[in-house]
Amino acid sequence: MKKRFVVGNWKMYITEPAEAKKFAAKLRRCMRGLHSVEVWIAPPFVLLPILQVSFKGSAIRLGAQTVSGQTEAAHTGEISSAMLKNVGASFVIVGHSERRALGENNESVHASLMQAIKSGLAVLLCIGEAERDQGGAYFNVLSEQLHSALKGFPVTYAHRLLVAYEPLWAIGKTAQQAIHPNDLQETQIFIRKILASILPRESARGIPILYGGSIEPSNAKELIEEGGVSGFLVGHASATINSFSEILSACKK
Ligand code: PGA
Repeated sequence: MKKRFVVGNWKMYITEPAEAKKFAAKLRRCMRGLHSVEVWIAPPFVLLPILQVSFKGSAIRLGAQTVSGQTEAAHTGEISSAMLKNVGASFVIVGHSERRALGENNESVHASLMQAIKSGLAVLLCIGEAERDQGGAYFNVLSEQLHSALKGFPVTYAHRLLVAYEPLWAIGKTAQQAIHPNDLQETQIFIRKILASILPRESARGIPILYGGSIEPSNAKELIEEGGVSGFLVGHASATINSFSEILSACKK
């Protein structure tokens, strides 16, 4: 049975160590009976060491919200893949639109992705258009983001790659403003096609495609069942245990 993925992107919603610990304890209790769902949490960097302890021995995976594409030491403020692995991270989100808005571009996203995947981390690559035009130009945006990020991608690492489709117009809103399941279905088919044009068909087929953008308890079930995706990248609704656990339940097979 293929598992589904629910990735919590805490952004700067949960910031206090005590709050993170409390959340972790409750999440561990929610995990009982959730064998068909992979639960990954991406807290702010500084909470990684604390959560590494809190999640020890559980199936919950810990990751970061971004990673440096730089290799050498002299880069003030940067965090490398090796540093992340030292504090328990096994995956990283790259190319999130909120990072791109702060200056990351296709080139730096590619550099981060390559550093992370070569170091042994799983990578959740975010792509998404700013707006949906009638003529379908947004498909070109997605194609360009995939091609540039995966240029020269070593196929042997494909089992550690995931793609999150996150249209910018749907991020940080409410369930009513999330994507329609039919549009999601169409878009994930397009993404799969592009992946198959970059990587060997078999490898491309195995890459989980997630959706992110105002996933809440009220729309999770419909979108997982009718949207054709393998799971979700959840922002605001991942920061409270009640809404996050409801989303997890909705994704149970
Ligand atoms: P949201 O964020 O669920 O708050 O829309 C998703 C994301 O940006 O990853």
